[in-house]
Amino acid sequence: MVTRALDVVMLGPPGAGKGTQAKRVAAAFELLHISTGDLLREEVAKGTALGEEAKGYMNRGELVPDELVGKMLAKRLHSQRAALGCVYDGYPRTSAQGILLDGLLAELGRRVDAVLYLNVPDSDILARITGRRSCPSCGAVYHVRTQPPKVDGVCNACGVALVQREDDREEVVRERLRVYREHTAPLLDYYRGRKILREADGGLSPDEVFKRVREAMETVRA
Ligand code: AP5
Repeated sequence: MVTRALDVVMLGPPGAGKGTQAKRVAAAFELLHISTGDLLREEVAKGTALGEEAKGYMNRGELVPDELVGKMLAKRLHSQRAALGCVYDGYPRTSAQGILLDGLLAELGRRVDAVLYLNVPDSDILARITGRRSCPSCGAVYHVRTQPPKVDGVCNACGVALVQREDDREEVVRERLRVYREHTAPLLDYYRGRKILREADGGLSPDEVFKRVREAMETVRA
């Protein structure tokens, strides 16, 4: 039996848990996890021309121009690993990006099958983001209080010292939230109109959120 590719968008404000859940969904449903934030941070770390251009926008909490992010996404989407489907984490973020994703998928005879919206109150977001620590080597994400590593400040898998993201400072987080409301939240209506939006309470524990996300995914697969 040939299984059709499955393409799922994770939508939600900064710190909603998109990355945390996208990794689990990708593993459980054998999809490629495409995080535009992670890809951009890799470019910055490598000091590429794209990274140099993106860095300023990211550190200010602004969106990197659609064209730059679009090219990066198209490359991943055309890779062999994307053939069975993808979880898009942090993409799309503007209406233009939503239209581009539809176009890229249509060229492959695919479409966005579901949009998982993680709804988290603003009051939780700041605490989540300021407590986040990540591994610069494997990308694992922790939280100093809710998901601490076994040894304080050290990655469980790599033994490397954890770091805090440049854009996780409070004033930058406030700007990211403003940008989310202005440019990204309107996509909720775009996908609601297509009847593919599924909402999960992102304020629960990561395991509880995943339970709900998995249930929503099963209805998409059915
Ligand atoms: P990006 O990296 O995509 O950042 P974001 O969307 O702001 O999302 P975050 O990574 O902050 O949060 P998340 O929802 O993934 O939460 P996480 O799982 O880590 O983008 C960064 C920047 O890159 C942008 O500002 C922009 O400049 C640029 N960019 C990226 N994509 C772009 C695009 N398409 N177009 C233009 N520019 C783009 O969880 C957060 C914390 O909470 C962690 O510590 C985690 O352990 C903890 N946590 C997770 N779930 C729970 C839970 N259920 N309960 C308690 N704690 C939890």
